[in-house]
Amino acid sequence: MILSNISFSNFRNLLNLQVDLSAGLTIIAADNGQGKSTFLEGAYLLSIGKSYKANTEKELVNWDAAQKELAVISGKLVQDDSTIDIKVGIDTRQSTLQKYARVNSVPKRPSEIVGIMSAVLFSAEDIELILGPPQFRRRYLDILIAQINNKYLRALQQYQKIVTQRNRILRNIRDGSSKFNELELWDSQLSKEGALVISSRVKILEDLNRAVASMYDQLSPESTHLDVCYLSTVPYAVSDTLKDIEESFLSALVDVHSKEMATFQTAIGPHRDDIQLSQNGRDFGKFASRGQARIAALSMRLAEAKLLREMKGHDPILLLDDLLSELDFEKRQLVMDEINRYQQTILSTAEIDIVPQNSIRDLKILELKQGLIQTIIQ
Ligand SMILES: Nc1ncnc2c1ncn2[C@@H]1O[C@H](COP(=O)(O)OP(=O)(O)OP(=O)(O)O)[C@@H](O)[C@H]1O
Ligand SMILES: [Mg+2]
Repeated sequence: MILSNISFSNFRNLLNLQVDLSAGLTIIAADNGQGKSTFLEGAYLLSIGKSYKANTEKELVNWDAAQKELAVISGKLVQDDSTIDIKVGIDTRQSTLQKYARVNSVPKRPSEIVGIMSAVLFSAEDIELILGPPQFRRRYLDILIAQINNKYLRALQQYQKIVTQRNRILRNIRDGSSKFNELELWDSQLSKEGALVISSRVKILEDLNRAVASMYDQLSPESTHLDVCYLSTVPYAVSDTLKDIEESFLSALVDVHSKEMATFQTAIGPHRDDIQLSQNGRDFGKFASRGQARIAALSMRLAEAKLLREMKGHDPILLLDDLLSELDFEKRQLVMDEINRYQQTILSTAEIDIVPQNSIRDLKILELKQGLIQTIIQ
């Protein structure tokens, strides 16, 4: 699958930009602040239906586009002989922000486009996968599974709604407006949806562990083997069925009821789980140097790409934001060798000279300046 065209309208600093893209490596070269990250953020938004970094989606609409107040990103995907048009709009013209999506002009909810354009984004924030709090790693896992399994996102969204409602009940019990036995119903719903989420995560973890470890060995041959495991707040065994996990979740909830009554927070479940990276049994996130953490985060992204390719049967599009500036010469070459295996890569850089261009096939260089694109090499 390739993204053959992308256009931006009022998306951050990209006011009106349309770019044709092709298979192979496209380098987007630009000085700082010209819109490299914005370009890749927009392309990835077509894949996951939302921004990977904006706190509120209002931030995505150009500040100066006061009259229009509508940001739109459209992309054309080509796979074999078919094409798919995807469009996402963020509309701030009414008092509440509206977001919409279209696939071949058919209206969809933004979450419904997940899985159509398979893509992996590498960004500066990726270091948080190793050094940051658990929500970064949960998000990584959730985006990966949602691209492969179209039932996952619904179960996860449903689960998150139940957590919010259950927390409200916990507060109401304290206030006397709900009875303690009302929790029973919420516990059973929580454990049912939660078991689905846990079992999907556990299922992919074996493959993920293998893929991350082999990428890390490849990029850092001198290092010790890296292990990835699922840290669950609900006791489970790898051989557990969905029903087993559900029952285990339900009985573990009963054990934490009194604690929950003090905090009004649902204390256990996939919203509190984590994935742990370790070397020789030691928590990698606690002792890794920044350089090692970068290589491990990159290994997680390359593993994500590898699993998407294996499980979806076609290559994801690689979106690499300023990745090479953080790597030494040898690692840059290793990374280029790996991305050369994929059908399409879009890589941004402020320093074109650091991109090893010797082994690259189908290279195209675009220069981005003040919201406009100029082709340097085609
Ligand atoms: N809503 C918005 N409206 C207008 N401009 C915005 C908006 N949000 C961000 N910008 C600006 O867009 C510009 C491009 O930012 P971006 O992060 O894409 O640059 P970059 O090329 O990746 O820079 P760097 O090399 O420093 O990473 C910045 O000047 C930023 O302040
Ligand atoms: Mg940037």
